[in-house]
Amino acid sequence: MIKKISLLLFAAVMILGNQVKADEGMWIPMLLKKYNIEDMQKAGFKLTAEDIYDVNQACLKDAVVGLGREGRPFRHFCTGELISDQGLMVTNHHCGYGAIQNHSTLENDYLKDGFWAMNKGEELVNEGITASFLIRMADVTAEVLKGVNDDTKEEDRSKIIGENIKKIEAETEKNSEYRASVKAYFAGNQYFLSVYEIFKDVRLVGAPPSAIGKFGGDTDNWMWPRHTGDFSMFRIYANKDNKPASYSKDNVPLQAKSSFKISLKGINEGDFTMVFGYPGTTTEYLTSYALEMMTQVDNPHKIKLRTKKLDLMRADMDASPMVRIQYSAKYAGVANSWKRWQGEIKGLKRLDAITKKKDLEENFVTWANTNEELKKKYAGIVDEMGSLYKELAPLSLARDYALEAGFRGSETVGLAAKFKGLSRLTKKDADKLKDAVEALKKQSDKFFKNYNMPTDKKLLAATLKMYSDNLEDKYLPKEIINIRTKYKGNFDAYAEKALSKSIFADEAKLNSFLASYKTSMAKKLTKDPIFALASSISFHYESEIAPGYGKISRKTTKLQRTYMAGLMEMQKDKTFYPDANSTFRVHYGKVAGYKARNAVTYDHYTTLEGIIEKDNPEIFDYDVPQKLRDLYHANDFGQYANDKGEMPVCFAATNHTTGGNSGSPVLNANGELIGLNFDRAWEGVMSDLMYDAEICRNVSLDIRYVLFIVDKFAGAGYLLDEMNIVK
Ligand code: ARG
Ligand code: ASP
Repeated sequence: MIKKISLLLFAAVMILGNQVKADEGMWIPMLLKKYNIEDMQKAGFKLTAEDIYDVNQACLKDAVVGLGREGRPFRHFCTGELISDQGLMVTNHHCGYGAIQNHSTLENDYLKDGFWAMNKGEELVNEGITASFLIRMADVTAEVLKGVNDDTKEEDRSKIIGENIKKIEAETEKNSEYRASVKAYFAGNQYFLSVYEIFKDVRLVGAPPSAIGKFGGDTDNWMWPRHTGDFSMFRIYANKDNKPASYSKDNVPLQAKSSFKISLKGINEGDFTMVFGYPGTTTEYLTSYALEMMTQVDNPHKIKLRTKKLDLMRADMDASPMVRIQYSAKYAGVANSWKRWQGEIKGLKRLDAITKKKDLEENFVTWANTNEELKKKYAGIVDEMGSLYKELAPLSLARDYALEAGFRGSETVGLAAKFKGLSRLTKKDADKLKDAVEALKKQSDKFFKNYNMPTDKKLLAATLKMYSDNLEDKYLPKEIINIRTKYKGNFDAYAEKALSKSIFADEAKLNSFLASYKTSMAKKLTKDPIFALASSISFHYESEIAPGYGKISRKTTKLQRTYMAGLMEMQKDKTFYPDANSTFRVHYGKVAGYKARNAVTYDHYTTLEGIIEKDNPEIFDYDVPQKLRDLYHANDFGQYANDKGEMPVCFAATNHTTGGNSGSPVLNANGELIGLNFDRAWEGVMSDLMYDAEICRNVSLDIRYVLFIVDKFAGAGYLLDEMNIVK
């Protein structure tokens, strides 16, 4: 009987699996022609697959920019897009935040007041930002997997694959000015090569004040309805031959192959939308066991820890404008995932995600036992996954505490951990000493610019206490047990003492220590209480946690790869999309509001009126600049108003996006720019783990609001002259 029921269920899944699920998915550009274009055109798209991706002629992909940092240009932290043939690029305010902050001083506070270069000479140089353009992709699965088979041990496998990848990348880069990166797709069942041209001179052109670019702040973050003018502008520069070069005053604006037309036509509910960009990480194909561990154990602990941290920071930020400046970026960093995890847990519960996963696993097991060949490949792997996650759970939690409450508990611990290398230099390393000290001096200067000891003292005490309260002793670093014993559980007393003694909480002390550093002083370092704590956390992590965690993870990695292959074999007619991995993807969907909860339904767009409704000079996040109020009251929206005469600000759509998609171009059916992706709506943030077209929404800034702010608010309308605006 049971068998019959599961066979029936199995059949149901097979039928459902055949349906194309609109909106869900982040697709590989070179495969659009094969898998998606018909579906896209049916949904309203008016162009062809070649218009998006073509290696022989200029196409839309050539206007999309992956933003990275020097040293790791392939880990795109955000996306941007070109809006002129002179290298002008637009991305989010929160993506340019670091650059804007770097150029800000108390006298010229560009975060607070905004910044606009009134000509190219006034643009500001940024070190370390890279801008990549995808040149081409190729499926290199066969070359990467050369020399491995099903019996290859997992450790050998990753070594062989690593070497094969290096070879492919090196060969691609040989005699070429391009850079190559091979990445795994479908949990390591496929590999694709991406070839990029990477520019290194990216200058700040402009940014609105935070009261526009970060309007709503962390209060509105991950929420709809939204009114954040989340954009900033940069210009990419090249050498005289239009090739990548580090900053030089002789560099000239990039003449790119392609840039986006900007549409003033606006959006209606149901309109086709397409997003191009560099989504970072998703995990859509995990088993129920992984999901249970993440959402029932790990994330609730991380949320509790961060709630505490945020409460402590907030109190001090509210009490002092100086602390607010110092801690606002740190606060936003901690708050961002903290808030997303909470939404994720709710969203998964609402979808009954664990049950759905379990049903799928049950079907999988039934299917895997239907014949000998399948049995050999797939029988038993679901159960095995279950027992592995049981083993992994305590180590995973200990790992989270080491990271969240250990290295990132007190800020000083993170700084001290960076001194480990220095402490290990001996007399023989005299030649390395100067560089090491210089690098640390740089780090420490940066650190103290935004350090407030009284706040950190509270953070240290609170996070250590939670570390010690929530884990069994065998998962605790020795030093924490020592502290607990010595101070009879009074971590406040410890923090008071430790930070008053430590060189890592006192800029003058640390500077003089570094200035006079000789290798014979390593002992002094080990006697520092914060260095001792950092060393103990890292020793414990490396000896007690990481090895076991790594060993089990290698097994789950292998099983996940097998499970993924099995799912694709079981649902042969379903078009699968690979999890995000910081490579170029195409997302398509439609403009749509949604039903958030009982009796609450949201519109698909917001307007300036909503900003005025939220206006409250008493609340930092909602303090509207006077000039914006004036423009609103004068109804001075120019050509940017919609056909109802309103000034549009943001819109919601069903594109399946994630972190890294920030700043991505949002295009209409003709491939014209209508917005900038920057966030998702609260009720649907579980889309990284399970997408649901009913309720998952990406949030975009309407391009008309961008132009309105540049033109009417900032008076930088001259920039519009180089754009291609279509009405
Ligand atoms: N939630 C958006 C994303 O994940 C925006 C984050 C920046 N904004 C903020 N208020 N913290 O990146
Ligand atoms: N805000 C995210 C980003 O910075 C986008 C998202 O997670 O939806 O990439």
